[in-house]
Amino acid sequence: MGTRVLRTSLCDMLDIEYPILSAGMGPNTLGEQTGAPVDLVVAVSEAGGMGVLGGSGYSIEELRDAIREIKSRTDKPYGVDLLLPKNIAGIEEMAAMGAQELPLSQVIATLPEPYRAWIAQMRSDLDIPEVEIMVRTDTTTMRPQEAVAVCIEEKVPLFCAGLGNPGWMVEEAHANGIKVLAITGNTKNAKRMADSGIDLLVAQGHEAGGHTGRIGTMALIPPCIDAAYPIPVLAAGGIADGRGLAGALAMGCVGVWVGTRFLATTEGGASDTIKENIVKATDEDTIVSTMFTGKTLRAIKSSFHDAWAASGLEALPFPMQIMISSALFQGFMQANIADYIGGFAGQAVGTIHEIKPAGEVVDDMVAQAADILTKKLPDSVKAE
Ligand SMILES: Cc1cc2nc3c(=O)[nH]c(=O)nc-3n(C[C@H](O)[C@H](O)[C@H](O)COP(=O)(O)O)c2cc1C
Repeated sequence: MGTRVLRTSLCDMLDIEYPILSAGMGPNTLGEQTGAPVDLVVAVSEAGGMGVLGGSGYSIEELRDAIREIKSRTDKPYGVDLLLPKNIAGIEEMAAMGAQELPLSQVIATLPEPYRAWIAQMRSDLDIPEVEIMVRTDTTTMRPQEAVAVCIEEKVPLFCAGLGNPGWMVEEAHANGIKVLAITGNTKNAKRMADSGIDLLVAQGHEAGGHTGRIGTMALIPPCIDAAYPIPVLAAGGIADGRGLAGALAMGCVGVWVGTRFLATTEGGASDTIKENIVKATDEDTIVSTMFTGKTLRAIKSSFHDAWAASGLEALPFPMQIMISSALFQGFMQANIADYIGGFAGQAVGTIHEIKPAGEVVDDMVAQAADILTKKLPDSVKAE
């Protein structure tokens, strides 16, 4: 008995021991390192799950370097997650400015006056510095075709599309022995993605950290499994321990895709302040807003959300809104104003009470889920 009960078809497909994937997590805002860096990928893959690199904020060359570093540090399979948005508002204008990198202040200067005025007002009211960072027009998100080409050349074992339908690259991926995973927040897209030839689908519920949809995980999984059949489904959103893993498997998922829990690990890419915020937060402390990126995104509620709501401004389309949030966020980080920092995270914060090594998270999840699934009907299962 024991951990053998956790061996699903996902383990065979990806050649991993346990059906646990650490989610691809990109940078919190411009200038921050990725949430799912090489260290986290290696730790999760070495522990028997599969680590997935958050590749959305990297340049094309950094992506290639990160993939090669993973290969040099582990023989275990791993994944790479990129965002493949349909429309990238403002990027042509930025590219027309003629550089691969632009000072953020230069991009901000092109925004409508009410946004510029609000940023200036916030800086003055809170006495935060204007931190100059470089906006890249050459990230993987801005150059999806080239980024995908790197993943194919490097023959990454699993390619994950965090945003958008990866149908256009599936054939080439398969020809190179690469499996393809897509993520959905509703049943309509589950069907569309399954029909496009992918190998795996993540059904990510409203509870999730980062970009998120409107349907709760529990209500999303059954219709997604039906719509995607026979493409296997992984559950995401609110899963932070073995109870969540056991629940997802019992509902017919082949595994789990876990973000917030792995962000708050020793190897997770969040800053120390954000990791502490995750540990301190309760299940009621997150909020969904378009303030950070222009798309609905769940983060720990902070005074930044209140100030944005009070501004009366409409969010700009993705990714231009990121310029606005980054212009201030970097100042909050530098001045270390914890009240305004929050951090991208899901409702699973209510289950996370300590920062520990990612390998331990995998071990604990496995032990608890195996224990639950080998019992008859469990009584209420309480954390240690
Ligand atoms: C800090 C952070 C960054 C994220 N960035 C990405 C990303 O770049 N690509 C992506 O596919 N999903 C991203 N997500 C969503 C995760 O991949 C995952 O679906 C989600 O975290 C699962 O829900 P959970 O946080 O409740 O575990 C991000 C989530 C967080 C918390």
